[in-house]
Amino acid sequence: MATIKLNNVGFLFPKRGRQAEHRVLHDLNLYIPSGQIALVVGPNGCGKSTLLSLMNGDLRPTKGHVNIDGIPAHKVRVATVYQHFSDSLLNSRTVLGNVVFPLEISEVDQKERVQKAMALINKTPLRGLENRYMYELSGGQRQLVAICRALIPNDIEVMLMDEPFSQLHPDTIRQMLALIEQVVRSRSLTLVIVMHQADYVTRIADHTIRLGEEGTQCEQSHRETWDGEKCP
Ligand SMILES: Nc1ncnc2c1ncn2[C@@H]1O[C@H](COP(=O)(O)OP(=O)(O)O)[C@@H](O)[C@H]1O
Ligand SMILES: [Mg+2]
Repeated sequence: MATIKLNNVGFLFPKRGRQAEHRVLHDLNLYIPSGQIALVVGPNGCGKSTLLSLMNGDLRPTKGHVNIDGIPAHKVRVATVYQHFSDSLLNSRTVLGNVVFPLEISEVDQKERVQKAMALINKTPLRGLENRYMYELSGGQRQLVAICRALIPNDIEVMLMDEPFSQLHPDTIRQMLALIEQVVRSRSLTLVIVMHQADYVTRIADHTIRLGEEGTQCEQSHRETWDGEKCP
């Protein structure tokens, strides 16, 4: 169970040197029920990545509360695919070494860890590339490694994905979305996904959260009421 709740959330990047403080998010009230998929859309710079950082505890709200099942989000372990995914990959490890990494802190024994990671890799276009190092992969292939790493741990209930398909071919996007949906639904995970090409996700999204230019909330709509209209 992992319900994400934001109450009157605001976020302000503090003043730094000559740069004035920067208010990014204002009065957000969101409710993403456990086991559901929420799509976040909005123009560049409106605060989508900042919103995910508040949900995974990288940032704390300057106003209001971000809770997961009533617990402050920064105290809950969640899986994140970052927009700058390359920074989070381990360059000294292979594809397999990266994908298996989140399991190394769990109790699972080594043989089982490798079997699990290989089974996942084999369901993606990374099949056959498990012994390659990060520098031997294309940008899109590295992005697939970051996605696999988020999908592998089975003790996490919230998954955050920030433009996870930005470097992928449309066929690969569809393949990965089907895999993500299967993992999310079978484990009842709560998924928040930021995407510009929203039409790929609207079919599977239970909620669509639209942010406006200034990081204000335009709308949170349930699947049935999503009309595809742009934020005013
Ligand atoms: N560390 C920072 N300090 C000050 N402003 C920032 C910082 N990081 C991002 N911003 C600004 O906050 C706004 C929201 O950024 P972001 O959440 O990355 O937008 P999005 O993901 O919607 O494109 C942008 O205007 C960006 O320039
Ligand atoms: Mg962003």
